[in-house]
Amino acid sequence: MSDLPSTDPYKGVRDFYPADWAKEMAMFARMREVLRAWGYEEYNASPLERAELYEAKTSEEIVSEQTYTFMDRGDRRVTLRPEMTPTLARMVAGKRREMPFPLRWFSIPNVFRYELPQKGRLREHYQLNVDLVGAAGSEADVEIIRLASELLKAFGAKESDFIIRVNSRALLTAACSAAGLKGEATRAYLRLLDKRSKMTPGEFSAAQGAITARDPLALINDAGSSPDIASEKRALLDTIETLTARGVGNAIFDPTLTRGFDYYTGIVFEIFDTNPANPRALFGGGRFDKLVALFGGDPIPAIGFGMGDVTLADFLETHGLLPSDSDGKPQLYLGTPSASDIPAAQAFADTLRKEGGRVFVNLSDRALGDQIKDAVKRGIPLFIAYGANEASSRTVRMKVLATGEEQGLPVSELPARLRAGS
Ligand code: HAM
Repeated sequence: MSDLPSTDPYKGVRDFYPADWAKEMAMFARMREVLRAWGYEEYNASPLERAELYEAKTSEEIVSEQTYTFMDRGDRRVTLRPEMTPTLARMVAGKRREMPFPLRWFSIPNVFRYELPQKGRLREHYQLNVDLVGAAGSEADVEIIRLASELLKAFGAKESDFIIRVNSRALLTAACSAAGLKGEATRAYLRLLDKRSKMTPGEFSAAQGAITARDPLALINDAGSSPDIASEKRALLDTIETLTARGVGNAIFDPTLTRGFDYYTGIVFEIFDTNPANPRALFGGGRFDKLVALFGGDPIPAIGFGMGDVTLADFLETHGLLPSDSDGKPQLYLGTPSASDIPAAQAFADTLRKEGGRVFVNLSDRALGDQIKDAVKRGIPLFIAYGANEASSRTVRMKVLATGEEQGLPVSELPARLRAGS
């Protein structure tokens, strides 16, 4: 056994080497483009939160089994955020008097959950959060679900690649109430429903029998069962029809969808890959009209969703849609005939950088042939050797490494060539 420290990351989290981070950044860039086009503004916060923020407000499973909580040196209980929604609610409540509602906000935080690492599930992931705060009603619901759909379409996804399952907490609550359930019993039933896909039908009906004699889902399917159920169901089906009319043709009503968080009050939805290789939800969200008021004041209605980077990357990969990650890579390798040419090469690189070029300068005393090999290994497409001759003649020979083709050109033309990507 060696006592050297391990080079592996902590279990269930990832290191992002530059090529990996470039892929992440390419995904985030696409998301930001779409969100800004829709008038959403980016915000951020620390991953450290007071533990009380989550207690009794979010999800029993997440708080009691999945949070990273510790004591700080001042004996305060601190939690690494397992999700962004409580932070969002806290921030909105903190400045509710100063801000113009509705707010259209997004963020791409890293969030932490102590889960069993497996495909699509890690202990730290980046989660795009998109929320519309201060707007009640179906138009806001439609905007958020359309936006979720547009995000996937912006990566090139077709409607047949994913499905949007939609339900309503208000409908489920009406059904629970018609079945005679109240308060804690309703919450227990919703928690059970949330776990249904992990149980056998026999296990589920036994557990349901322990909570209620009447099956709330059967009441939802039976249109005549209660006026509340009928009106909530109508409202939800109307929203789905509006979505279809506005270009979202893959939203379906799924009365079994609950979502694991206690704070949802209205419409809830999840998006799934239609390819069974990726069985986990890509997005999850819903309306949470009472969360902001937990910090005092009148309720502020809100709706939003989270989309995880792990499941998104699996989805994009499965459908051949991962965006190209070459955008930020160096374009040009400046080689130096001798180490004494490095200062002049750096100065020349500075002039190209000012014009937007991405330039990598050799720092070794290796032979030019080896520097070319190094450029190829690094995947840098262009190579120029820059020494005293080039500095005095103001012309260079540019080698396109993919083809081996070489071309002489005046240095004044280089910035334009780099901008054109050649
Ligand atoms: P959530 O369903 O817990 O919702 O997470 C949203 C998405 O984050 C999931 O659909 C999945 O893509 C990803 N995700 C969740 N846990 C993990 C994990 N352990 N590893 C990898 N990816 C994961 C929320 O967190 C809500 N706060 C979303 C929200 C925003 N609701 C309203 N606004």
